[in-house]
Amino acid sequence: MPAISAHAPGKVILFGEHAVVYGRPAIAVPLTQVSARVVALADIRAPANTITLESVGVLDRVNLNDLAADHPLAKAVRLTLQALSAGSIPSVTLRIQSSIPIAAGLGSGAAVSVVLIRALTAFLGLHMPDEQVNELAFEVEKLHHGNPSGIDNSVVTYARPVYFKRNQPIQILKVARPFSIVVGDTGVAAPTADAVAGVRSRWLADQNLFDGYFDQIGAITEQARAAIETGATGRLGPLMDENQSWLEKISVSSPELETLILAARQAGAQGAKLCGAGQGGNMVALVQSEQVGAVERALRAAGAVRTFVSEVGASGLPDHTP
Ligand code: PMV
Repeated sequence: MPAISAHAPGKVILFGEHAVVYGRPAIAVPLTQVSARVVALADIRAPANTITLESVGVLDRVNLNDLAADHPLAKAVRLTLQALSAGSIPSVTLRIQSSIPIAAGLGSGAAVSVVLIRALTAFLGLHMPDEQVNELAFEVEKLHHGNPSGIDNSVVTYARPVYFKRNQPIQILKVARPFSIVVGDTGVAAPTADAVAGVRSRWLADQNLFDGYFDQIGAITEQARAAIETGATGRLGPLMDENQSWLEKISVSSPELETLILAARQAGAQGAKLCGAGQGGNMVALVQSEQVGAVERALRAAGAVRTFVSEVGASGLPDHTP
């Protein structure tokens, strides 16, 4: 049997992180420069129903049954088997490879879940619609931080720019005019769970104040959506800067992020903000194509351990199916 594989991109939240957990809208786009991939290999010598997981550089070969029930990889596999009502299955090794930095706000956990679900489904010769892949990946996201909005799994599943509101059908965004973003990694690992829990405790301490901040972020996201859909991309930079100022107020920024954000702006970016949970991880800048090189150089000189350039809305996104 030939090896079966699935791949999925990372993601960048352009507007609305954190506020999205509290019901406000957010906008996220795939980051195809990084990706997760799972190869499913038949283990013809192992007894039936043996599932082995390998995560290159992260996890040595391990039997599914030796992973704790609440391990995200085990949960993704078990939910898939349950959803497919798979009885006895041929033995398989699921080899995970990912170039998406972990705990960096680029959707690594969601991407790995999505590709595990898709690769195992394809290995069993079955099909699962995107909606169901997305639902299962959302269940796994709950293990990463108890109260996920669902934006990460959605953008990674559909591999398209999305406008997202909790508990509402996902909306694929039409990008009227492609625009370039540069992403810079502080190199500081910052688990999403910590940042989300911190915001929650500050929100609990002063709900009126924080609901006001989330409303402001929600209004910025709505304006950004209109700008993206009408091709008024010149509006996006200032909106990113405004979004960043509210993210600073809810205390999810960090000195390292702000150093990179400032460096990007000084090198000609039209706007910049942290992306994802914050407190480390990555920032994103809106950059006119002729400034991309200068912004990347400035970010690296200011301490970025990696930079990625992506054109949002450009055609030719790789297909996400196996
Ligand atoms: O996991 P990250 O760093 O991409 O951040 C997720 C975005 C949050 O809004 C902070 C949390 C969520 O579930 O939406």
